[in-house]
Amino acid sequence: MNIDIPHEALHPGALDQGSLDVARVRRDFPILSRTVHGKPLVFLDSAASAQKPRVVIDTMVATMETQYANVHRGLHWMSERATDAYENVRDKAAGLLNAADRHEVVFVRNSTEAINLVAHSYGRGVMQPGQAVVISAMEHHSNIVPWQMLREDRGIELRVAPISDAGELDIDAFESLLADGRVGLVAITHMSNVLGTYTPAARITGIAHAHGAKVLFDGSQAIVHRRVDVQAIDADFYVFTGHKLYGPTGIGVLWARRELLERMPPFLGGGEMISSVTYEKTEWAAVPHKFEAGTPAIVEAIGLGAAIDYVEDLGYEAIAAHEAALTDHALARLAAVPGIEVLGRAQDRGGLVSFTLDRAHAHDVATLLDRNGIAVRAGHHCAEPLMHRFGLHSTARASFGVYTTHAEIDALADTLARVREFFA
Ligand code: ALA
Repeated sequence: MNIDIPHEALHPGALDQGSLDVARVRRDFPILSRTVHGKPLVFLDSAASAQKPRVVIDTMVATMETQYANVHRGLHWMSERATDAYENVRDKAAGLLNAADRHEVVFVRNSTEAINLVAHSYGRGVMQPGQAVVISAMEHHSNIVPWQMLREDRGIELRVAPISDAGELDIDAFESLLADGRVGLVAITHMSNVLGTYTPAARITGIAHAHGAKVLFDGSQAIVHRRVDVQAIDADFYVFTGHKLYGPTGIGVLWARRELLERMPPFLGGGEMISSVTYEKTEWAAVPHKFEAGTPAIVEAIGLGAAIDYVEDLGYEAIAAHEAALTDHALARLAAVPGIEVLGRAQDRGGLVSFTLDRAHAHDVATLLDRNGIAVRAGHHCAEPLMHRFGLHSTARASFGVYTTHAEIDALADTLARVREFFA
């Protein structure tokens, strides 16, 4: 099955002129001008990992070409420059989250590592056996498995808050899970990577705090589409990863209230995270360095800094408006394709749409789309329990970024209609 979508048909059109200058944004991303299978690339898989703007690529190359050395160790000029550049990103990340204190930003590899850090350090070091962790029924495996490991290891119960058929948190059921006062931590997505649902963050923290529980948000998807203010939502922990936010892989952020980080034991031991070591006794470094053992991802962190600047320059209001328009367009166009069922109908949602096609497995749909230059993700999206909640094994998912155009969504819908005919 081969469909010819001319390059010109994919150019940003009038609908992309609202809040972002998408034509200009697209010129910032070198990869978008390439073809795949001889077709113009239609990249609708940004929720898995976003493409990188030139400024991120150039910043990382320039770092390695002009001021690269290890950080926090050297007394030489090059190490001081690299340390300044690296630590400067801590300020940028604190600003991005509206953190009260730059020392609340811990650099990690990705959201998964951040959640594991909290599960190990807060879960094993601060929580007590007999307490419980509450997650929701729309979590990524990275926000399920670390808590299961904690349960097996420490006898900490794992409770799952249900969601509605629309894909929204059942807030009453959630509250009732906290009623016995044994919940030490709520760990919940801020935006589902499958349903697109934004969870009501401030309501969740209000309920959790009233019952004595702390709250961790997995912001991997949420922070890409909207401004996050950890003070406004009264979060205790917030995690995100750089590579979905137009930055490099291998760098992410754990933000936590300083008093929590100070109470938590280290996760990994080694260089950098100590203030003194003898064979008898080691003193930990102050936060956040207590949690940053070993040489960190220096170039990647500096690349993340460039990505944060890029997103801030575009402006979250403009990004959110553009992606809301794209999502509405996608929901309308997909609704008009016979045989397509969209998973999740949350009122408050971000820039992605998961769907099934009646006549074909999601993997076949993705393969045929790919042959036409259209990249989507298909499978369980690392959220198998959520798939089971809806009686499914897999969906296809189209996810949007700052460079996505309405014409690309039209290309997706038109191609899906042809895919369905192909399977007739
Ligand atoms: N968590 C990423 C996704 O949803 C990889 O695709």
